[in-house]
Amino acid sequence: MSDGKIRVTDPLRVGFVGVGDISGIYLQNLTQRFRDVEVRAVCDLIPERSQQAAAAWGVPVVHARDEDVFADPEIELVLNLTRPYEHYEVTRRALEAGKWVYSEKPLGVSFDEGKALFDLARTRGLGLGGAPDTFMGAGIQTVRRLIDDGYIGEVVGARCSMMCRGHESWHPDPAFYYQRGGGPMLDMGPYYVTALMNLLGGVRTVTARAKRSFEQRLITSQPLAGTVVDVEVFTDLHAILEFDSGALATLTTSFDTVWNEQAGFHVFGSEGTIMVPDPNTFGGPVRILRRGQSEWFDVPLLFDYAENSRGLGLADMAAALRSGRSWRANGEQILHALDVMTSIEESAAELRTVTLRTHWERGLPMQRAVLDGVLER
Ligand SMILES: NC(=O)c1ccc[n+]([C@@H]2O[C@H](COP(=O)([O-])OP(=O)(O)OC[C@H]3O[C@@H](n4cnc5c(N)ncnc54)[C@H](O)[C@@H]3O)[C@@H](O)[C@H]2O)c1
Repeated sequence: MSDGKIRVTDPLRVGFVGVGDISGIYLQNLTQRFRDVEVRAVCDLIPERSQQAAAAWGVPVVHARDEDVFADPEIELVLNLTRPYEHYEVTRRALEAGKWVYSEKPLGVSFDEGKALFDLARTRGLGLGGAPDTFMGAGIQTVRRLIDDGYIGEVVGARCSMMCRGHESWHPDPAFYYQRGGGPMLDMGPYYVTALMNLLGGVRTVTARAKRSFEQRLITSQPLAGTVVDVEVFTDLHAILEFDSGALATLTTSFDTVWNEQAGFHVFGSEGTIMVPDPNTFGGPVRILRRGQSEWFDVPLLFDYAENSRGLGLADMAAALRSGRSWRANGEQILHALDVMTSIEESAAELRTVTLRTHWERGLPMQRAVLDGVLER
């Protein structure tokens, strides 16, 4: 390719399945920034989308159908950017065809879907990874370093809330947010749960209550303004998470509130409190209040990737698959996050505490990069 990007040798050849709203930032970062990846093909059910994307970003191949991506011998990894309820089938068929897969969140819309994909990848010896990768950004990695270095003493717990009035005022086709696999827990929960896991460790039990405040939602964004969507999922969820360490956290996610709080996120320790940046972003600010002090102070970011670096998890996976090391946004992590979120929904539906089915241990923190866009091999 002659896009001017300095490449490492042998970049991982990726095919996109799904070229909708989120694909632009992946295309930008994977074609311009992350050197371990080469975007080989794009594919969408709506052909104009893939044709436009290929023209805009210099992608050499447009495939008409997803099965053409799965059958393309040039493609090693399928990037699944379809809607949540489509993730399972696309990932399953890609794995069956022998491709590695990186999936947008969530891995599936039920724990069983996620577990089946995880087992399939493992049985076939194929790499599986997925979003979010914001936990690898400068903000959350700086918070992790502060906690691991003892700046707030012994971790007591955390409090997180993601509250808004839903996505139907801006997303061009927002119905999926109210269908199976949508709702604020499976949609926005992945950022908070994955950040919590990387800061506090694995989760042991969850207890939750939830409701659906409105049976229908009115789309006000173009081009579907005026369309009414039936709500199939919980849209107002309140959970308590008990971690393996004994720490406790509360997590609220709501699409029902006239209040936009995208990052009400604090981690509490015996010697201080950290204000955690929005886990749906890669940067800061990171602020700390230490015992005996009355003022918060800003902590400089200690890591790279503070800008919108979507694709970072895939770039890390690409470098890892070439060298044989483990990658950070890996199958164990996305399955445990799915376990946490679906267990919260199960707890709320059945009014009981749910013990998780999976056990998870934190992976490696980020390393400083020698070159922007190059992850360690
Ligand atoms: N939009 C955002 O801001 C955002 C942010 C972060 C993550 N995500 C996640 O990204 C994923 C996609 O979201 P989106 O907003 O881009 O949705 P979207 O509806 O805009 O795009 C999805 C695209 O997938 C295509 N598609 C579905 N099945 C296909 C198949 N079998 N073969 C080829 N194409 C297929 C659709 O035609 C559509 O163009 C979701 O999992 C979402 O949770 C979205």
